[in-house]
Amino acid sequence: MASFSSYIFLIILFIISVGASEIKSIYLPGTYQSSLLVKKHDEKTKIPFKTHYFPQILDHFTFLPKSSKVFYQKYLINDQYWHKEGGGPIFVYTGNEGNIDWFAVNTGFMVDIAPKFNALLVFIEHRFYGDSMPFGNNSYKSAKTLGYLNSQQALADYAVLIRSLKQNLSSDSSPVVVFGGSYGGMLAAWFRLKYPHIAIGAVASSAPILQFDKITPWSSFYDAVSQDFKDASLNCYKVIKGSWAELDALSTHDDGLIEVSKLFRTCKALHSVYSARDWLWEAFVYTAMVNYPTEANFMMPLPAYPVEEMCKIIDGLPKGASKLSKAFAAASLYYNYTQTEKCFNLEGGTDSHGLHGWDWQACTEMVMPMTCSNESMFPPSSFSHKEFSQDCKKQYGVKPRPHWITTEFGGYRIEQVLKRFGSNMIFSNGMQDPWSRGGVLKNISSSIVALVTQKGAHHVDFRSETKNDPDWLIMQRKQEVAIIEKWLEEYYNDLKQN
Ligand SMILES: *[C@@H]1O[C@H](CO)[C@@H](O)[C@H](O)[C@H]1NC(C)=O
Ligand SMILES: *[C@@H]1O[C@H](CO)[C@@H](O)[C@H](O)[C@H]1NC(C)=O
Ligand SMILES: *[C@@H]1O[C@H](CO)[C@@H](O)[C@H](O)[C@H]1NC(C)=O
Ligand SMILES: *[C@@H]1O[C@H](CO)[C@@H](O)[C@H](O)[C@H]1NC(C)=O
Ligand SMILES: *[C@@H]1O[C@H](CO)[C@@H](O)[C@H](O)[C@H]1NC(C)=O
Repeated sequence: MASFSSYIFLIILFIISVGASEIKSIYLPGTYQSSLLVKKHDEKTKIPFKTHYFPQILDHFTFLPKSSKVFYQKYLINDQYWHKEGGGPIFVYTGNEGNIDWFAVNTGFMVDIAPKFNALLVFIEHRFYGDSMPFGNNSYKSAKTLGYLNSQQALADYAVLIRSLKQNLSSDSSPVVVFGGSYGGMLAAWFRLKYPHIAIGAVASSAPILQFDKITPWSSFYDAVSQDFKDASLNCYKVIKGSWAELDALSTHDDGLIEVSKLFRTCKALHSVYSARDWLWEAFVYTAMVNYPTEANFMMPLPAYPVEEMCKIIDGLPKGASKLSKAFAAASLYYNYTQTEKCFNLEGGTDSHGLHGWDWQACTEMVMPMTCSNESMFPPSSFSHKEFSQDCKKQYGVKPRPHWITTEFGGYRIEQVLKRFGSNMIFSNGMQDPWSRGGVLKNISSSIVALVTQKGAHHVDFRSETKNDPDWLIMQRKQEVAIIEKWLEEYYNDLKQN
């Protein structure tokens, strides 16, 4: 069980649709080069982005001598559709926990709608991710440097950068709309609340801003994953639910490890059966998150509605086969859809998208307690703040502050609070995505709108349009465009009256 808590860290990473950037950018402070190409409609046309590095302040909230240290924050920009004089807005993506190129490549929605709005497109990288390392290679060394990695600093970075950009472009009156998916969506929503003078509206896709404290039931995430599989096939759910005990039984055998290594076709003999468990677990959770209606190429390429495909595999295997071998076959869809894997690497995964900073964030302010209920398809588990805190103390020398996010940004009774205070926010969620359970799923006011689709998954609305998109997805994006149009119209009407 030793690896259980570090394993929890792994799962709470917001894995976002992956797709490596076309051209790797090079770290060049202060200068820029034309680099990233982002796919547009149906992945055929690509539009170029320029990479810039902005001298950003290390600590926005104190005036200690070291606070003013400067680091270079990366951002991407495309102005080919921008019509500043014609009132074109600035669409800003508030970067999340990874390389910004990766999020830009996977937020084709902004690129798709930019021509219609004559919009400037800007993607800003989150501090401590990608190239935006305040202490270079030493950024992750200890809490002394990592201490500057938190959401409030990130939001302040975005505010400072946007103001500087607008000044440089002499576009003070251009309205800014912020966009974000997943953690980036949380940041977009919070940015609108904290900096309403900088952004006129926020589009937050699959943003679990209510996954904190006790706002959302702790078991809801894994119950939602289980529901996806149950909806696909009850037998499939039962097989997966029963497979863990078979794996545990093998762990007590003398040659259990050898058997598991053989069954899981591992490249190297396993050190622990728990890596097999993690491997299965990850496949099921991430597949539920990206249960998209069209074939998509993520960290793993997958077919349309991959949960259904996994369950078809399980249901198609002979009755006599063990539950564990069926679960393995289903998970193989996630790891081997390309059919090119010779063997599987269950231990020592890679982090090609630079997501590991999330561990620190999860151990400090992003505490999202999760449990597995008896009804989930995963082994039942509990969550203890005390144990979690001890683990974090051991790993980073700091204690989590589990109530800080709800203190800083709110969350409890969000409907009543925002009804009387906020405006111009879209919260979009797809119910296939387990993160939707911690999202805003009800309309709060006429301008704080929840767009919920039953068949949608993790920020599917932010992906590039494809010719196979179902009607509900086309409708959802249309609705988002219409709402943004309304925000802009109101903004310009207000401007005229002054
Ligand atoms: C950081 O590490 C990379 C890879 O190990 C190396 O190429 C680079 O020179 C290092 N940068 C600095 C500033 O030390
Ligand atoms: C704006 O211009 C200044 C001066 O050239 C530069 O230092 C800064 O990085 C620019 N801001 C942005 C967001 O690029
Ligand atoms: C991946 O799929 C191919 C084609 O079905 C198969 O030959 C191969 O054995 C699979 N790899 C593993 C590790 O199971
Ligand atoms: C789950 O099952 C265990 C063992 O059957 C039982 O002790 C426990 O109370 C159950 N928990 C819940 C939340 O139902
Ligand atoms: C919120 O209101 C919009 C109309 O503005 C509607 O289309 C949508 O379905 C509503 N959302 C929910 C969750 O009821």
